[in-house]
Amino acid sequence: MSELQDFSVFDRRESSVRGYCRRFRAVFATATGSAMRDVDGREYIDFLAGCASLNYGHNDPQMSTALIEYIQINGVTQGLDLHTGAKRAFLEAFERLILQPRGMDHRVQFTGPTGANAIEAAMKLARKATSRTNIIAFTNGYHGVTLGALAATGNQYNRMGVSLPGVTRAPFDRYFGSDFDSAAALDRMLGDPSSGIDPPAAVLLETVQGEGGLNAASPEWVRSVAAIAQRHGALLIIDDVQAGCGRTGTFFSFEEMGVTPDLIVMSKSISGYGLPMAIVLVRPAHDVWRPAEHNGTFRGNNHAFVTARIALEKFWSDQAFADQIAIKSDIVTARLKALARRIPGSRLKGRGMMQGLALPSGDLAAEICRRCFERGLIIETSGAHDEVLKILAPLTTPITVLERGLEILQSAAADALEDALVPALT
Ligand SMILES: Cc1ncc(COP(=O)(O)O)c(C=O)c1O
Repeated sequence: MSELQDFSVFDRRESSVRGYCRRFRAVFATATGSAMRDVDGREYIDFLAGCASLNYGHNDPQMSTALIEYIQINGVTQGLDLHTGAKRAFLEAFERLILQPRGMDHRVQFTGPTGANAIEAAMKLARKATSRTNIIAFTNGYHGVTLGALAATGNQYNRMGVSLPGVTRAPFDRYFGSDFDSAAALDRMLGDPSSGIDPPAAVLLETVQGEGGLNAASPEWVRSVAAIAQRHGALLIIDDVQAGCGRTGTFFSFEEMGVTPDLIVMSKSISGYGLPMAIVLVRPAHDVWRPAEHNGTFRGNNHAFVTARIALEKFWSDQAFADQIAIKSDIVTARLKALARRIPGSRLKGRGMMQGLALPSGDLAAEICRRCFERGLIIETSGAHDEVLKILAPLTTPITVLERGLEILQSAAADALEDALVPALT
């Protein structure tokens, strides 16, 4: 490790809240496609992709060019919701390439640029539209860490024991195993005025719980929950912050499930370039905001609009990109199945390019990740006990690179097991 890898100011001055950098201890410098490089020029295959905020890879050349051109003509950068040419071009592309082909009449609300802020907006809007307060959220759900969103987040570590009102927790699909119909239970409780659950403004869910351990809801379950929400006068909010933008194979994660959410929350990869941006898609009947009611200084990141438009035009003008995602997803599935056969007690999780392996312990998952990093692969865990190895490679990752990353994962896992770190498994 060279002198360039100097961590002292981070260790001295950066808050103890820092997280990812503790697990991936390097000073990073550049990144292209599916690779990151540190200040020493060491290359890492990126299976984290900014936690799915870089679905189209690092520094896509067309997006870079468009952004540089926009900066060179002194394009507007401020983030209020003024009309700009960049925003108009994004909205027109989003309407033409995403909403119209799917028969969606949703309007686009630009919120503060994080997933959490967009979730806050969706929760507030559902409450206003229905004149109700309660929101149903699910076990292992993750929706961000600002107080409103955190109330809907399950993770105890993030919840920090603070008072988080206004949300009732319900069991996610197969939370109690496949014999327990959690949708029917929810229906029953919402139909019983003495169940103790207040009539909800909304039911909020991820179709694949990213941070919660890659729990993929079945289409039947999502359809049942959508029908239950409607029956009980609640809006359906789909949190597509992590599972959207092609991560599960289609632009929206729910596309092939036969549901039309009232509100859809997107962030992470919506800008296409890792730039902060978030939106809530709102069916017109629920767009009951008064002007500037959910306000904020940064609700119009024009640089993000430039790259977001290129992302839509480049990747979502036809079926080719989705076809590529399907091929790569199959490769990931095959490799994970092979790996699962070698690790007793492990099982496949997730779908599309959002798959992983639940391991018998978080310690084993952490050890495998550590060894991957040593060998040049960045990969993270998720789940209640951080026990799920989670592959979030950019969707643009070339197949050869994907295979190489999966080989590193396989060898790191084999070595971790062989070294009898977990004697019970060997
Ligand atoms: C499904 C989901 N919703 C919301 C969020 C919160 O987004 P942010 O971290 O940008 O606030 C995340 C973040 O990981 C997420 O995965």
